[in-house]
This record gives sequence, structure tokens and C-alpha cells, in this order.
Amino acid sequence: MDDKLLQGKVALVTGGGNGIGRACAEELGALGASVVVNDLGTDEWAQGTTSEAADAVVAGIRERGGEAVANYDSVATSEGCRSAVQTGVDAFGKVDIVVGCAGALIEGGLKATDEQYELFMALFLGQKFWLGREVLPGMVERGYGRFITVTSHGATGLLGQPVFAAAMCGVISLTRGIAHEYAGTGVTANCLSPGGATRLHATSRDMFEKMHEEGIVDDEFWEGFQKTPPPEYVSPIVAWLCTDAGADVTGEVFQAGGGYVATHSRLREERTVYRGDPKTTPPWTLEELDLVVPRMLLMKP
Ligand SMILES: NC(=O)c1ccc[n+]([C@@H]2O[C@H](COP(=O)([O-])OP(=O)(O)OC[C@H]3O[C@@H](n4cnc5c(N)ncnc54)[C@H](O)[C@@H]3O)[C@@H](O)[C@H]2O)c1
Repeated sequence: MDDKLLQGKVALVTGGGNGIGRACAEELGALGASVVVNDLGTDEWAQGTTSEAADAVVAGIRERGGEAVANYDSVATSEGCRSAVQTGVDAFGKVDIVVGCAGALIEGGLKATDEQYELFMALFLGQKFWLGREVLPGMVERGYGRFITVTSHGATGLLGQPVFAAAMCGVISLTRGIAHEYAGTGVTANCLSPGGATRLHATSRDMFEKMHEEGIVDDEFWEGFQKTPPPEYVSPIVAWLCTDAGADVTGEVFQAGGGYVATHSRLREERTVYRGDPKTTPPWTLEELDLVVPRMLLMKP
């Protein structure tokens, strides 16, 4: 089998200096893609900056015979996203693949300050909008593009943290909107919901243990969290989506955590009860809804 399936393609991986981004950057590089490794070099809590994280991954890809360059901008700003894309254009002439992985632990509950809320939205949701706006036109022109955005199981709301849930669900809707709008152009857009034993994962262990004790996360989540494998178990689905085999796969959320890969359901009407034609039928009465909502919509006995 040809192991250079992505030869000639240019990939930008944000947050590529650590964890899941690093595994994706290395896997895409091993498949022959030229890689822009973007990383601001923060700690797990979005503090500090260093060029070392991106540089180490670039050096590793080059040592193995691949092509890579570093970019150190923050993708929590539109200028940073533009600059990260420009690094790919300057070094390799274009950007064909984007994997939006950069992230950090920021307060995602209702006690978040305005500043934390804004950083959260900029880093997790704004990043994907700014990157998409920058790269989609060129991808469409060339008839090939893979736009992959990282979301989280937290999008379900089942980890609490409503700001986190809103941003992560926003990423899914943004990506699905892109998938729908750009269908048939050769550009696909999909989400990755990862589970990888990264430094971020290790740092959030105490928080999830406490949430498990408080009943906010269930036993299944907590058991799965403790068995999470290294991020190299997450990156293969990202690489696969970039190959020709993934050409028609768009608008999906792939959850990958090692030993399995899953797709998420789409937001659709689940159950519907009809009152009648509004031209001839009055609106629901509250007494009718007393019966209809629990028994016919929520299916309570
Ligand atoms: N690890 C998991 O199990 C898991 C689960 C769900 C979601 N995620 C998401 O996956 C993504 C990657 O997480 P990870 O576990 O690999 O974390 P990580 O800390 O190992 O790597 C994240 C990288 O992003 C970089 N970064 C942070 N802010 C940045 C910015 N503004 N601009 C550019 N780079 C920036 C950091 O320097 C770091 O190198 C995050 O968005 C995270 O929320 C991870």
C-alpha cells in the first residue's frame, strides 16, 4: 500500500506542539503532507508562551524525512489564524488540510468571568470560524479541502460546564454548516471528538474525579476516562478523512478514544405530535400539553 497518500498536500495543525495536535501533525507528515505546526506554547491553563513545543514537532517530522514549518501565533485571534494560514502559503504555496486542535483548560462554568468567557469562545469556536474563512475559498478553487475541527464529548452537556458545552456544540454546528454549504466542491468538514491521554487529560483528572463523586459525570464516563490511551490512537481517523477514501464523508462528528471510533447522531426532530392545521385548529391548551408532553413526547409511563 502507498504510504505517502497525502504527498503534495499541505496541512495546518493548530495546537500541533502537544497531545492530539502533535499526533495528527506527525501522522499527516508521515503520510507525505507538508505540515505547518502551529502552537503558541502555553501550559495546560492557557498561560505562558514558548516556541519549543512547535519546534520539537517540526524537528521530529523533518528527522523522519518529512517537510514541516512552525508557526507560533495564537489562533484565539483572527490575525493569528490568518498568520498561521499565511505561513503555509509562504512555505508551501497553499493550505489543503486544517486540523483545529489548539485548546487549553479555561473556566467553562457559570462562574467564568467575562474575560474567561471571551477567551473560551475565541479559542474554541472563533478559531474554527477564522480558519474556515481564511482557507475555504482556496480549497474550493483547487477542488480539494479537509476542514477538521476538534470538539468534545462536553458538547452533549453531560459534563456540566455550560460555557464549555456551548462552545463545543457551536463547533459542531459551525462545521456542519460548512459541510452543507460546501457540499460537492471537493471540500469536506468534519468534527473530531477525541479521548487521548495528553497533559490536558492528566490535568483534568482531579476535576472529573470530583465531578464523578458529585454525580455530574456517570460511571461509564469516569471508567472510560481512566482507560484513555495515547493520542496516537485518535489521529488515524483524522488521517483517513484526509485521504481519497474520505472524499464523500462530510458533516460528521467522529468520536475516537482508542479501541473504537464512533459517529454522533445529528440534531433532528425525534418525536412529533400534531394538533391539527393551524388554519382551522386553535393552539394547544395547557391541559392538553399536560398529557401530550410527558406521555407522547417524553414517553414517560
Ligand atoms: N485530550 C482529550 O482527551 C480531549 C478530550 C476532548 C477534547 N479535547 C480537545 O482537544 C484539543 C487538544 O487537546 P490536548 O489534550 O491535545 O491538549 P494539549 O495541552 O496536549 O495540547 C494543546 C496545545 O494547544 C496549544 N495552544 C493553546 N492555546 C493556543 C492558542 N491560543 N494558539 C495556538 N496554540 C494554542 C498549547 O500550547 C498546546 O500545545 C483541545 O481543544 C481539547 O479541548 C481533548
